[in-house]
Amino acid sequence: MHDFSDLRSDTVTKPTDRMKQAAMTAPLGDDVMRDDPTTIKLEQLAARLTGKESALFCTSGTQANLLALTVQSEPGSEIIMDEESHTFLHEQGGVARIALSQPVTLPNHHGLMDLDRLSSKVRGDDIHFPRTSVIECENTHNRAGGIPLPISYLKGLRSIADECGAKIHMDGARLFNAQVATGIPAAEYASYADTVMFCLSKGLCCPIGSMLCGPADTIQKARRFRKVLGGGMRQVGFIAACGIVALEEMVDRLAEDHVRARKLGEAIASIRGLEVDLDTVQTNMVYFRVKHGTAEQFVGKLASEKVLCFAEGDNQQVRLVCHKDVDDGDIDRAITALEKLA
Ligand SMILES: Cc1ncc(COP(=O)(O)O)c(C=O)c1O
Repeated sequence: MHDFSDLRSDTVTKPTDRMKQAAMTAPLGDDVMRDDPTTIKLEQLAARLTGKESALFCTSGTQANLLALTVQSEPGSEIIMDEESHTFLHEQGGVARIALSQPVTLPNHHGLMDLDRLSSKVRGDDIHFPRTSVIECENTHNRAGGIPLPISYLKGLRSIADECGAKIHMDGARLFNAQVATGIPAAEYASYADTVMFCLSKGLCCPIGSMLCGPADTIQKARRFRKVLGGGMRQVGFIAACGIVALEEMVDRLAEDHVRARKLGEAIASIRGLEVDLDTVQTNMVYFRVKHGTAEQFVGKLASEKVLCFAEGDNQQVRLVCHKDVDDGDIDRAITALEKLA
């Protein structure tokens, strides 16, 4: 057991010893000049795992999403996303500020936008309208509980996008959680999208970085635009080496996080003052609701029991996230605290 049960986010994970060793011994060069063999190796690996032609090492998931949405849209176009997507909620309006497009948002149910409604929002090449350039989806869907998107839904999105000539960008920050939970390979999920982003820095424990994968010409445009954003990195193989270890060694263990999240979810379901929809507990997250007081108050009380987490969403909702640096003892402490405080 650790000093605290840190269930705030899987972004708190520390790099493994193997990552630190790999960083110290990685062959390095100037990646802006394409001289860094370790970054090139990571990009090739990411492209292979997602079944895409090419990949780009980005500083963060936010940067990779922004690059994908910028290079696949044109100023004055519309980008459809759901109103609880990370891009809409947490990326400071980058789509409006940098991509110069307007987000069109739709509600989701369990992470899925209604496809008929989505279809009715699509705008074609009429001189009066902004054109729909990109449809974004999030897999796993964070706010919906970390739910993997069903393939049938992705097929529906693809056919709408094909009909109107829009691109699909998948925010797959936790794409490998989806792969591990469902057994559906990352490349199959990615095959329904033009571009896919996944984070190395979350459950996969790399200290920094996300990969944007897609067609070679799109990734080349993103590489140019990454430089505009100050994201051209020099001897970045130092970090890319950790990313290679993340992809080679850290994917399968995500299953342990899913088991712990399920244990937490089931315990919460039996606590009277709390509410959880167990159908949403499919990967490493548990969203639950407090029946008395506010989520903020409850989170404060949990902290005094050495259980850290965030209030997320409306003021009754709390999120717990399992990851490598949470063990069984941490889960037991969290359950004891939840039972005591609810
Ligand atoms: C679904 C989703 N997309 C994108 C991001 C952004 O990633 P980053 O924090 O690396 O910018 C996050 C971060 O938590 C996320 O949960």
